Amino acid sequence: MRNVTKDTLTQTFLDYCGPETSPRLRFVLENLVGHLHDSIRETELTHDEWRKAIELLTKAGEITTPERNEFVLFSDVLGVSSLVDMVNSRPEATSSSVLGPFHILGAPDLSFGGDLKRDNDGATVIVEGKVRDTQDKPIAGAVIELWQTAENGLYSNQDGAQPEYNLRASIKVRDDGAYALTTVRPSPYSVPDDGPVGELLRATGRHAWRPSHLHFIIKAPGYRSLVTEVFPSDDPYLDEDAVFGVREDLIMEYVEQNDTTRIPDAFEAKDKITAPYFRVDFDFVLSEETSK
Ligand code: BEZ
Ligand code: FE
Repeated sequence: MRNVTKDTLTQTFLDYCGPETSPRLRFVLENLVGHLHDSIRETELTHDEWRKAIELLTKAGEITTPERNEFVLFSDVLGVSSLVDMVNSRPEATSSSVLGPFHILGAPDLSFGGDLKRDNDGATVIVEGKVRDTQDKPIAGAVIELWQTAENGLYSNQDGAQPEYNLRASIKVRDDGAYALTTVRPSPYSVPDDGPVGELLRATGRHAWRPSHLHFIIKAPGYRSLVTEVFPSDDPYLDEDAVFGVREDLIMEYVEQNDTTRIPDAFEAKDKITAPYFRVDFDFVLSEETSK
């Protein structure tokens, strides 16, 4: 096409895609590029605005390292990551939520009732529940990975003062699907805002805070893996998460407890826990691998 106009450009782009283009790629590109072109036509985007967008992306590239991916962070604060979660979610299972950048492989095993809090400062929380299927049956083979911030709002891989795998665990559930541990109450924290994402947040009057949460990945043979996070019901940022990760079914209650004699013997930290402490009960529901 020689005489491309603003009205023929989108179709010309699609005509340029050759027979190598898979049907799915053609479908996604047609939609994505179509919306992008429509947006430019509708907003009559100026050269300055286009330059600014390219500048933000260039800065994102410059700041991105294996430990910090500014493009993923853009996806998070624009709601793209959460939308991808939502359009792929199974209504019969626990909602998924953002993975975030602080997950690392190799978390140490923690047995039933284990003490993840150890020497960490902060309020003690007993977290327990079950992993079950959509028919309420326990999933005996499930493995739960858990990671969270310390009381200072930092993950172990952001904070040289914490041991390498602090507040990270891999937990094999019991045959009845149950898991239980003690940990520290996590704190709200802000997503990194010293790069172009922070520039965008400030330009739109937004803050960078996330409500406190515990991250989980739950895997079991024959079931769809679940990447999610759960939030305390009294967190001040619950209704304004910078990355749109909160879902109604991911909110749990931290119930304050004052009687330490009621802590079951199965908890490794039983003799160390002082009142007040918190109890949280949270079940995870996994959908079968093949179900839609
Ligand atoms: C997090 O929960 O760790 C997180 C999620 C998205 C962006 C930054 C941090
Ligand atoms: Fe997080």
